[in-house]
Amino acid sequence: MSEKIESLKAAFAEDLKNLDTSAADKVDAFRVKYLGKKGLVTDLLKQTSTLPVEERPAFGKMVNELKAFVAECIDKAIETAKAAALDKKLSEGNVDVTLPGDGIPAGSTHPLYDIREEIIDFFSQMGFEVDFGRDIETDWYNFEALNTPPDHPSRDMQDTFYLDEGVVLRSHTSGTQIHYMETHKPPFRMIAPGHVFRVDNDATHAPMFQQCEGLVVDENISFADLKGVLQVFMNKLFGEGVKTRFRPSFFPFTEPSAEMDVSCVFCGGEGCRRCKGTGWMEIGGCGSVDPNVFKNCGIDGEKYTGFAFGFGLDRIAMLRHAIPEINLLTSNDERFLKQF
Ligand code: PHE
Repeated sequence: MSEKIESLKAAFAEDLKNLDTSAADKVDAFRVKYLGKKGLVTDLLKQTSTLPVEERPAFGKMVNELKAFVAECIDKAIETAKAAALDKKLSEGNVDVTLPGDGIPAGSTHPLYDIREEIIDFFSQMGFEVDFGRDIETDWYNFEALNTPPDHPSRDMQDTFYLDEGVVLRSHTSGTQIHYMETHKPPFRMIAPGHVFRVDNDATHAPMFQQCEGLVVDENISFADLKGVLQVFMNKLFGEGVKTRFRPSFFPFTEPSAEMDVSCVFCGGEGCRRCKGTGWMEIGGCGSVDPNVFKNCGIDGEKYTGFAFGFGLDRIAMLRHAIPEINLLTSNDERFLKQF
């Protein structure tokens, strides 16, 4: 029986030599001749069942090897036929290479991405290190180490997304301060841009948005340093004429704490619809690092002082581009995105 296989293989090889691979239909007929339902190889395979049981495995194996070989040769022939067809088409000259192409639509960077890059550039030039932190934090980093007691309202399920007991989607970037202080010795300055999550949804609040945290720790750092850095930063973001003001506020992890406003970027401080007639717009929170936070991170609060700030990137993008709805920023709507 094995002679049958050998002779078919030889016949196939001879046949293949004479195959006209420039014509797809000839190649196809060739394939049917060997591998089709009634093809020569298929036929041989069918004969396996007529053999004595002990001969079947060896024979079947050989025919299958032949089949694989034949299939591979035919596949190559098909490729050759396709290439030949293409060559023919091209040489006939019916492709007008002077026609303009379809063009590749150029995208643009997202306004939030641009602002984040701008912030990173600005602070890097002032010697700040960038730490992106992590989206998922334990209770310790999001609250406890930040001097936020268990009964603080921000811990409420209504405000924070809980993944598990003691594990949250971070509700602010302030937890990155803690990670950083645990692993670095002062003096240092760092920023921590990233996504944050809150149970919140209206025109100016989204369940996911971006913040940028900042932290500076050294000897003799004062609130004046904080004001200076943030004023220069606001000049960079909104232009030289922008004014800032600091209103007393409260955060568990800073003392004293303040809310920073900038003069309304739409009316320049005169008072308009967008700033609700006040002339000011809120940008973020800030303050001097609370000594309890230093203690939780093993930093000597007698020797070192520091300041921290945190503001929303979406907010800044909305002011910059007069975007009326925060959700537009993440809606993936091309009509919106194409404007940038
Ligand atoms: N984490 C505060 C918030 O999300 C902002 C803040 C950061 C305030 C750092 C003070 C210091 O509102």
